[in-house]
Amino acid sequence: MTAKVIDGKVFAAKVRSQVAAHVARLAEENGITPGLAVVLVGEDPASQVYVRNKHASTIEVGMASFEHRLSAETSETDLLALIDQLNADAKVHGILVQLPLPAHLNSELVINRIDPAKDVDGFHISNVGLLGTGQKSMVPCTPLGCLMMLRDHHGKLSGLNAVVVGRSNIVGKPMAQLLLGDSCTVTIAHSRTKDLAAVCRGADILVAAVGRPEMITGEMVKPGATVIDVGINRIERDGKAKLVGDVDYASAAAVAGAITPVPGGVGPMTIACLLANTVTACCRANGLAEPEGLTA
Ligand code: GUN
Repeated sequence: MTAKVIDGKVFAAKVRSQVAAHVARLAEENGITPGLAVVLVGEDPASQVYVRNKHASTIEVGMASFEHRLSAETSETDLLALIDQLNADAKVHGILVQLPLPAHLNSELVINRIDPAKDVDGFHISNVGLLGTGQKSMVPCTPLGCLMMLRDHHGKLSGLNAVVVGRSNIVGKPMAQLLLGDSCTVTIAHSRTKDLAAVCRGADILVAAVGRPEMITGEMVKPGATVIDVGINRIERDGKAKLVGDVDYASAAAVAGAITPVPGGVGPMTIACLLANTVTACCRANGLAEPEGLTA
């Protein structure tokens, strides 16, 4: 079997155009422009690229983008004061503090200072609790993007065996909660799981989010399964820099029914879902109907 390739670039473009249509409607019918504030502390090169892309995508769908670039020496007091100011600003519907923060800043304290209703990353402890208890929340962008792709491919996910490899707060745990919410039978596996291959082979849906290059091979994939690769690993092969996922693509694609490539799979969905979450937050803040198909 050769797997169907789930094209994240095409899917993310569709999500962005749905967001843009909703933004246009909000402007026309309600005179409201959703606004996203992104806070970057320091000069980490990868974070600078992410923030630049977020800014460009936000503008492209017609939303307002507020960028706050602070020096690496910014004090916790000053950063918390900025978050308080953004929490109180009616033009700002979503707030994202780019991670990782410099070591002298307490990320948990900073994230939990964000108004949960504006927490478009879904990292605030209130949103984590709401998701865990099946209540309406802001959902972390990467798992939300994976869920959208899975729903699109399968229709209903009810009753399917899902294995999530990876237990991070940002991807693994919320992904498991979302799959449970769609009535999958969910297993969270990780690097210490006994006989990981056998556990993975039980999966109709296999989500790889361990951060280990090409760890999931074809022999760990059930024939016909859907494989979602969240990994983005920079490696060197044959003297060249290369981007690979947590899945060994060639061997897995020979067995799977469907698979996301790296790059061009889950990656583009993350920013698309950030924009979707910002529109959702804006609609909730204004007591308006939420966009359909863009939330969990
Ligand atoms: N750094 C890398 N990915 C992310 C993300 O999804 N959100 C935030 N806030 N920081 C990140």
